[in-house]
Amino acid sequence: MKNFCVFGNPVEHSISPKLHNEAFKAFGIDANYIKILLENHYKLKESIFKLELDGANITVPYKETAFEVCDEVFGIAKKIGAVNTIVQKDGSLLGFNTDAPGFLKSIEEFGKIENALILGAGGTAKAIMFILQENGINTEILNRSKNRIEFFQKRKIGAFCWNNYNPNKYDLIVNTTSAGLKDENLPAPKEILDKILRDAKFGFDVIYNKQTPFLKLCKENLLTYKDGTDMLLYQAVFAFNIFFDNQYDEEKITKAMRKSLID
Ligand SMILES: NC(=O)c1ccc[n+]([C@@H]2O[C@H](COP(=O)([O-])OP(=O)(O)OC[C@H]3O[C@@H](n4cnc5c(N)ncnc54)[C@H](OP(=O)(O)O)[C@@H]3O)[C@@H](O)[C@H]2O)c1
Repeated sequence: MKNFCVFGNPVEHSISPKLHNEAFKAFGIDANYIKILLENHYKLKESIFKLELDGANITVPYKETAFEVCDEVFGIAKKIGAVNTIVQKDGSLLGFNTDAPGFLKSIEEFGKIENALILGAGGTAKAIMFILQENGINTEILNRSKNRIEFFQKRKIGAFCWNNYNPNKYDLIVNTTSAGLKDENLPAPKEILDKILRDAKFGFDVIYNKQTPFLKLCKENLLTYKDGTDMLLYQAVFAFNIFFDNQYDEEKITKAMRKSLID
């Protein structure tokens, strides 16, 4: 039997076990996926070996630690500096980031996008910025405070704080902040959001299973919008494919995992 888990803190809310276990069932794979509350980032590497895991997903706040503990990191994860999927092969830890392609897949239905504004400048903003940039979509960053925007400015990305920002026109606005997750806050001052949403076509919130104040404002401005459920789903689909060397049909994995979201 193969063993997998998601590490995080908190992790109780994670639906990753539900998604992966449903896919194991659909393909008749002898495997189990659990959630593990990891109190301390030092324990990540030793936990993977102690639990004899074949693979793991890593969620907040350990994605940067996961990047550090891997023996080899692949693809866009190298640029982002964060890993959410680890495979253990012959005692080596191989790291990947499936949040970024998961996001890209989930906005496919929007059609052509030329430019985007990302609200927030944390780990998720980095993942989304790099994947948009790799796909030729001009991207800017707007964040509440100054510290985190330097990462983007160093890479020649237009990155601003609320107090030094002149609104531009964008096709897509993405909220990557946790504003609206456990409160009714907007991710930026309403005056700014009103200006950028008036000209935008699409809104996306990485928060899932909730119509956040940001999405409500997208609706009021007649944007096409969606929450982060599909991003979560597709990051799991891509992680599953990495765990099993791409031997399973992506559509069938997606179907099984989507079913688990409804059940
Ligand atoms: N759907 C999915 O698959 C998916 C995948 C990954 C992450 N997520 C979600 O994405 C969210 C962000 O995760 P992260 O790892 O990027 O977090 P993070 O690295 O801690 O960054 C948080 C960012 O949000 C900003 N922020 C926090 N509270 C705010 C508020 N009240 N108003 C305005 N800005 C605020 C912070 O600004 P400052 O710099 O000023 O502090 C920072 O830029 C989480 O809710 C996570 O669950 C969803």
